[in-house]
Amino acid sequence: MKATALAHPNIALVKYWGKRDEALILPHQSSLSLTLSPLSVTTTVEFGVASDQVELNGHTAKGGERDRVLRLLESVRAQAKTALGPARMVSRGDFPMAAGLASSAAGFAALAVAARAAAGLPRDTRAESILARLGSGSACRSIEGGFCEWQRGERADGEDSFAVQRFAAGHWPDLRMVVAVVDRGEKDVKSRDGMKQTVDTSPYYPAWVKDAEAEVPVARELIARKDLQALGELCERNAWRMHAASLAANPPLCYLNAGTLGLIQHLREARKKGVPVWFTLDAGPNPVLLTDAAHEVAAEALARACGALDVIRCVPGGDATLTPEHLF
Ligand code: DP6
Repeated sequence: MKATALAHPNIALVKYWGKRDEALILPHQSSLSLTLSPLSVTTTVEFGVASDQVELNGHTAKGGERDRVLRLLESVRAQAKTALGPARMVSRGDFPMAAGLASSAAGFAALAVAARAAAGLPRDTRAESILARLGSGSACRSIEGGFCEWQRGERADGEDSFAVQRFAAGHWPDLRMVVAVVDRGEKDVKSRDGMKQTVDTSPYYPAWVKDAEAEVPVARELIARKDLQALGELCERNAWRMHAASLAANPPLCYLNAGTLGLIQHLREARKKGVPVWFTLDAGPNPVLLTDAAHEVAAEALARACGALDVIRCVPGGDATLTPEHLF
């Protein structure tokens, strides 16, 4: 009745931005991401305790945070063959929240894997991805390692909306992602609210959906060929287009700050000097730089020279796994 799982966060190369179903977390478009190592979240779940308890990074979860976890556990209870009873869940991440990397993606992926195992259900990446998606959309892409594609699906029940691995981490071991933390503050508008505002009010939203959907197979092909330059260019334009759609929302949403723009400007200069480095940007000010192993030190130096407060160097990460080392 107790199981523990470890999962890595992921960074989207083609972003997910907007839901067609808020309750089931079904996206308007497909997306594609890279799983990041060595960052990870570990989660232990035990069913059959006295009452539901949810602990995240040393504090008792409340409100919406707690509800999201309980909802996922409820879905596991519905699938289990026996009555499971209340659950205790403890989760711990090994990277700073301030990095702006969605720790919720790794957290819900680890929770999905641990909860199913604690319920006696067999490992099944499709079922785990669908379950993780109920917690946070991007979490469905952290069940498997390497490059994962979240296929938007067509069905109203979401059973065809899950992520599949396109290439394992070992396909492109030379690829590097460097997280440049230019701002440690909490963002004003969370992804969940920002994407809704964009869907509801941005006149550019339909163009975003059409373009992002079309970029997924292009990105897949560039990853197959390990074409860093073309993939870097695709990542940048996809990030710009997500932010352009958000900027056009009412009220406008601007996640970038002066530090973000300063770093982006320097990347252009570095590229002119032959450094192969591009960026992507989630719903926050901290760019994630895309480069290769030979240039990760240069990418880190560039980020620091532009005022980055922290820099986290990442490599392609592996699958979410079960581990015997429980947190309680
Ligand atoms: C910009 O997955 O955090 O990082 O589904 O509402 O929980 P919810 O949102 P979330 O949004 C991620 C948005 C993004 C792009 C991406 O990861 O694809």
